[in-house]
Amino acid sequence: MLVMGIETSCDETSVAVVRDSVILANEIYTQEIHTSFGGVVPEIASREHIKKISLLYESALEKSGTKPHDFDLICVTDRPGLAGALLIGISFGLGLHTALHIDIIGVHHLAGHIAAVALEWDVPAPFLALVVSGGHTSLYMVRDFYEYSLRGQTIDDAAGEAFDKVGKLLGFSYPAGRDIERCASEYEGDDRIHFPVAKIDAYEGYNFSFSGLKTAVKYYAEKLSSSELEKQKPRICYSFQEAVVDSLIYNIGRALADEKSAFPIAVVGGVACNTRLRKKITESFPHHHVFFPSPKLCTDNAAMIAQAGMKLYARGVRRMPGMEPTSKISLKG
Ligand code: KG4
Ligand code: ZN
Repeated sequence: MLVMGIETSCDETSVAVVRDSVILANEIYTQEIHTSFGGVVPEIASREHIKKISLLYESALEKSGTKPHDFDLICVTDRPGLAGALLIGISFGLGLHTALHIDIIGVHHLAGHIAAVALEWDVPAPFLALVVSGGHTSLYMVRDFYEYSLRGQTIDDAAGEAFDKVGKLLGFSYPAGRDIERCASEYEGDDRIHFPVAKIDAYEGYNFSFSGLKTAVKYYAEKLSSSELEKQKPRICYSFQEAVVDSLIYNIGRALADEKSAFPIAVVGGVACNTRLRKKITESFPHHHVFFPSPKLCTDNAAMIAQAGMKLYARGVRRMPGMEPTSKISLKG
């Protein structure tokens, strides 16, 4: 089955061509213009998507050696995300659908992140999926890339958002995850600052909270002179990164303990690029098979959307793309 994926939910414009889970093209344009604003500016994101989407479509066709009429299905992210940004991808997909008479399906962005593992691995279902990105931190029990049962989520900031906010206050540009990881790797001591991470036991489920951690780093940094802050940056980055990773491991551990079965674990989303997180999660669950997409498939891309849409379509799901930009929209395929 030849599938086109389209992703424009935030600051990556992407068009992909996937045939039977094999990526033939995965064109991605990252909008670096937002760096100077310290975060994504929605109106600018929409305008950048408009400028790039046709070019990425053309180059995806060229790279994959396909023609517009060859496709069996168009998959487009239609929720959640920035409303104006989603609208560009949805309009482009609907234009192709109308002109070429090709079936189209709306895909939830998180279903895409989870399906990214299936582009490289044969993950036996059911499995526990941790989605850690700039917009989400959620735990799902996944059956057949079709049924998603939410086990926990952040009650405030997402893990990637915490990386970006802490990065901003330490002087790194947006998005800061990769810079924090690099700076943390320069720390050679073992005197970790024990920044507090909330353990949300009071709620039902395995929820996360990262806004208190961000505030703790802020107060710690504010007490230092600028030269001392510069000197301590690797230690602060290391300690912050350990705190985030430990909190993710804590909730995965609780969810697995309650399931009482050695389910596989999939860790997906932009923060899953982090090598410390990959190492620590793998070491923490030696009796579970842990899957990570390769870094290029962890961050936003259209191949994951094509894969998720193809799996839903194969299960008989037919959903015209709608407009449900709210970040609270539940994942129901
Ligand atoms: O999945 P993604 O591309 O976009 C969303 O759907 O949000 O994730 C982007 C997030 C950003 O917050 C970025 O700082 C974070 O992923 N990120 C990382 C790393 N690479 C990207 N966080 C920690 N360590 C990394 N190496
Ligand atoms: Zn994403």
